[in-house]
Amino acid sequence: ADVPPLDRLGRPLRDLRLSVIETCNFRCPYCMPEDEYPRDDIGDSASRLSFDEIERLVRAFVPLGLRKLRLTGGEPLLRKRLPQLVERLARIDGIDDLALTTNGSLLARHARALRDAGLRRLTVSLDTLDPARFAQLSGGRGDIGAVLDGIEAAQAAGFAAIKLNCVVQRGVNEDDVLPLLERFRGSGHIVRFIEYMDVGTCNGWRAERVLPSRELHARIHARWPLEALQPGYRGEVAERYRYADGAGELGFVSSVSAPFCGDCHRARVSADGKLFTCLFAGDGHDLRTLLRTPAGDDAALGERIAGLWTQRTDRYSEVRQAQRDAGITRHVEMYAIGG
Ligand code: GTP
Ligand code: 5AD
Ligand code: SF4
Ligand code: SF4
Repeated sequence: ADVPPLDRLGRPLRDLRLSVIETCNFRCPYCMPEDEYPRDDIGDSASRLSFDEIERLVRAFVPLGLRKLRLTGGEPLLRKRLPQLVERLARIDGIDDLALTTNGSLLARHARALRDAGLRRLTVSLDTLDPARFAQLSGGRGDIGAVLDGIEAAQAAGFAAIKLNCVVQRGVNEDDVLPLLERFRGSGHIVRFIEYMDVGTCNGWRAERVLPSRELHARIHARWPLEALQPGYRGEVAERYRYADGAGELGFVSSVSAPFCGDCHRARVSADGKLFTCLFAGDGHDLRTLLRTPAGDDAALGERIAGLWTQRTDRYSEVRQAQRDAGITRHVEMYAIGG
């Protein structure tokens, strides 16, 4: 049990994306559409892992190879006292990278405390700069001004090279791409364009809505010539580019047109303590029961996770069409595992 496990396709477990809360203050139509989720009180705090349980869980992952931890939601900043959790996780030996993905709406209020608690890296979702479209794409709940204030507050608090994730949908926000780049060129932040995916069950995904990175790259390159960069690390999700004129870096996440399952080292855990071995998994595996048995059973926890990882065969993005053709469309919802 001292050798880090490999899954059935030979992939180690390097990254963990841990959801700290399953609800959100936005209702992005592709994730949590308002008509299906009119209420705010999704999930309940008793089912959520406590900070003690989360810390214990993360510590159990480290001997299995975990190096990188990203906190997600729903919207993680809705979790009460989040900086206290960050502080505990930042102290764990073996975790080299501690990051968080947020919609940015509450960031102005919390950036400083998160930074002081030891958070090192930040990713903010940002699909458009247009106020009306932003409101629409967040289900009538979001305010672009608050998100931009949040990004500025984060920068002032010491976060550098903030990643700004834009999910591009053809015919919806493709004309936001150049304005986003224009705004953040030269800022040191990194805009990344994500191909629209068929995650969850309620986003009404259609292949025609995907704007392949290749095409997007051509449009951007025609305006500002781009040069490819080497990956920052093996299995990096985004393809990296820089502006030839020195205005910084941008990226593409091409999970539909160029799947990267071969190097997928990511596990996901939902706020209620289920392990998902793929973003597109139908079911998770319960870890909470073991976490709630009396302390001291950390070995059993590690063995359970290792056992599940060893069985892993997921490569959904490489077999998407065959799965869809076979009618297999039951996927965990995006807001439950934070992308
Ligand atoms: P870095 O740690 O900065 O490299 O960020 P990251 O790219 O690992 O994390 P981020 O949350 O920014 O991921 C960007 C987006 O890529 C996610 O929101 C997902 O939409 C998509 N993505 C991330 N991981 C996976 C994955 O394992 N499979 C698929 N299909 N998409 C993924
Ligand atoms: N396709 C691609 N990315 C998505 N996200 C949410 N839904 C989708 C989808 N269908 C992104 C969010 C956020 C991250 C957590 O996942 O915009 O950046
Ligand atoms: Fe939108 Fe993210 Fe909230 Fe989903 S979790 S509704 S993608 S902000
Ligand atoms: Fe990993 Fe599943 Fe995404 Fe492939 S589709 S990269 S296996 S999470």
